[in-house]
Amino acid sequence: MTQPTATPEARRRPTDAAADDVTSLGRADSRAVRRRSLRLLGDLLRHHKPALAWAALLVVASTLGQVAGPWLVAVAIDRAVPAFADGSVTPLVLTGAGYLVAAVLGGVAAGAYVRAAARIAQAVLLDLRRRVFRQTQRLSLEFHESYTSGRIISRQTSDLEALRELLDGGLTGVVSSLLLMVFTFVSLALLDWRSGVVLAVAFVPAWLLTRWFQRMSQRYYREQRTASARLIVKFVETMTGMRAVQAFRREPTTEAEYRALGEDYRDANLQIFGVNGRFQPGLILIGNLTVVAALGVGGWRVLEGTLAVGVLAAVLLYCKRFFQPVQQLGMFYNAFQSATAALEKVSGLLAEEPTVVEPTNPVPLPQGSARGELRLEHVVFRYGDGPVVLPGLDLTIPAGQTVAVVGTTGAGKSTVAKLVTRFYDATEGAVRLDGIDVRDLASADLRRAVVMVTQEAYLFSGSVRENIALGRPGATQDEIEAAARAVGAHEFVLDMPDGYDTDVNKRGGRVSAGQRQLLSFARAFLADPAVLVLDEATSSLDMPGERLVQRGLQTLLADRTAIIIAHRLSTVAIADRVLVMEHGRVVEDGAPADLIAGDGRYAQLHAAWQDSLV
Ligand SMILES: Nc1ncnc2c1ncn2[C@@H]1O[C@H](COP(=O)(O)OP(=O)(O)OP(=O)(O)O)[C@@H](O)[C@H]1O
Ligand SMILES: [Mg+2]
Repeated sequence: MTQPTATPEARRRPTDAAADDVTSLGRADSRAVRRRSLRLLGDLLRHHKPALAWAALLVVASTLGQVAGPWLVAVAIDRAVPAFADGSVTPLVLTGAGYLVAAVLGGVAAGAYVRAAARIAQAVLLDLRRRVFRQTQRLSLEFHESYTSGRIISRQTSDLEALRELLDGGLTGVVSSLLLMVFTFVSLALLDWRSGVVLAVAFVPAWLLTRWFQRMSQRYYREQRTASARLIVKFVETMTGMRAVQAFRREPTTEAEYRALGEDYRDANLQIFGVNGRFQPGLILIGNLTVVAALGVGGWRVLEGTLAVGVLAAVLLYCKRFFQPVQQLGMFYNAFQSATAALEKVSGLLAEEPTVVEPTNPVPLPQGSARGELRLEHVVFRYGDGPVVLPGLDLTIPAGQTVAVVGTTGAGKSTVAKLVTRFYDATEGAVRLDGIDVRDLASADLRRAVVMVTQEAYLFSGSVRENIALGRPGATQDEIEAAARAVGAHEFVLDMPDGYDTDVNKRGGRVSAGQRQLLSFARAFLADPAVLVLDEATSSLDMPGERLVQRGLQTLLADRTAIIIAHRLSTVAIADRVLVMEHGRVVEDGAPADLIAGDGRYAQLHAAWQDSLV
């Protein structure tokens, strides 16, 4: 799928492409994709073997019930009715009763089959839904930074929806239609092989028409899906970027773009209907011509005396019925197409492996909990196969030290934060916590020891209390309040409509960017990690707010190792040590006072900042 935007798509990995566009793949790749989705399907159905067998039994029974009808009609006309004329009632009663039993049993079995298939389908869908969700949570940040949210939303919505459509009705229909065709043909051939030949001949144009339909609808459905995915991506992008859209008066442009995509989607749909509009009447015509041919051939033979009238009636019924499922099959083929494509994409997502992997033999931290000494040993880093961001970083941060990292934008500060918190692994070299490579630590230990607070300071829907308690599940109200007090959040929380029970996403519960950050500080305080990483975490605070937080921050930083990435130099003042980064290297390293006294980059920055304050 070609994205309409120049977002990080350029950096996406080949597996992403496989997940989104099978057309651009080579033969071997597309076979691999097919194998992958079949494997997924097999895996999903594995737990339902008995239920599948039961459903198969039911569908066979219901189809048998259906094909028995015309046969019994032939028997009734050719044997039972003449017998009745001769005074014997039994054959007619028997065939009548047989017809009734076949109809009732067929109906009951058909109903039971639909229910059994629905149960399997719903179980499979739930399983798949959960797998997709679990997988997206399991995948590393690298994946989420390169796979656009619109695409991931399509996986969980429209792709699963396509599978639901197939499983809900389509598949059940396809199976019973196919079976009905086979059984109808076999019954007809057994009843009168010459009519079987007529049907077999008529099947050729029907088959050709169906193949044509499949080819065309495959092409147009692919276009339709691409168009629909683009529409979703555009919509999600506009909605998530609404602030920027409105701030820069982009509405007319985005509207025009959205409209063009909407028109593409409409056109793709119209093309599909165009194909359907030729396929359906074509089949009806073939079906009716077949009936005419069977009637012509059969009628001639009846006159000749080589075919019984009852058999002719049954032949006509079979011929008429034969083409009904073909039409249904053709329609289901569309659902089947979308569902196969959806399954390919979903299986692609499920096949992604986290780039940051859990160690097989995790090393425990000395004495059970971290002291907080950090060491970066000749760390080289690049994102994927992009340019080198850190060309070789050596850095030791003793336990308990507060280090401020400053530097120009793009210098690699956030990258260092992401390596220390192990959202990414170093390309070369190692990051060590208390001497242990972070790649050898169990993620539970690492997450307890190292906590990152970012500028986004994300709040989940729920109460203020729940949001702070995320730092340490199971914390008491007193602990939560103590944490809020420590960072200076307690007062404004009490001012909210329901205090700690205020829902942060409800009217009145909305918090400002600064308050949001104080809440995320409280969360981090409660988590009480050995190492704290703050990435631009003080940037949305106003001056008094910042002073307030400065105090809270000192409480937060006491007795732990901290890396503070800040553009504001007031935050840097509380640090023991300052690192100035340029192009992935540390160019200055020292106590703030020493650096200010010198004439390096930090001294200049500091002087400029001082000037800006007066
Ligand atoms: N997810 C990513 N994928 C690819 N490249 C990235 C990614 N994130 C950052 N980069 C690149 O890595 C380099 C360092 O980025 P980083 O975010 O570490 O800078 P920074 O010092 O935090 O900048 P800022 O002060 O603007 O936050 C930049 O050139 C950036 O383009
Ligand atoms: Mg940054």
